[in-house]
Amino acid sequence: MTDAPVSITPCPNGPLLVRGDIEILDDEGRAVPRTRRTVALCRCGVSTIKPYCDGTHKSVGFRAE
Ligand code: FES
Repeated sequence: MTDAPVSITPCPNGPLLVRGDIEILDDEGRAVPRTRRTVALCRCGVSTIKPYCDGTHKSVGFRAE
């Protein structure tokens, strides 16, 4: 990890964009594999690749500002 800035940005009607060097953990505290510096985290609950967004939010009509 580095001291580079981290940001989390909600996409309208979509995922949370996470930029920066942070560790993502599952519900048992295990590190979730991550290959990109910027990732999209699902917040609609229907992604098949949680915790990441797979674009399904569009087909289910997820709405959030
Ligand atoms: S936010 Fe994209 S699949 Fe859930």
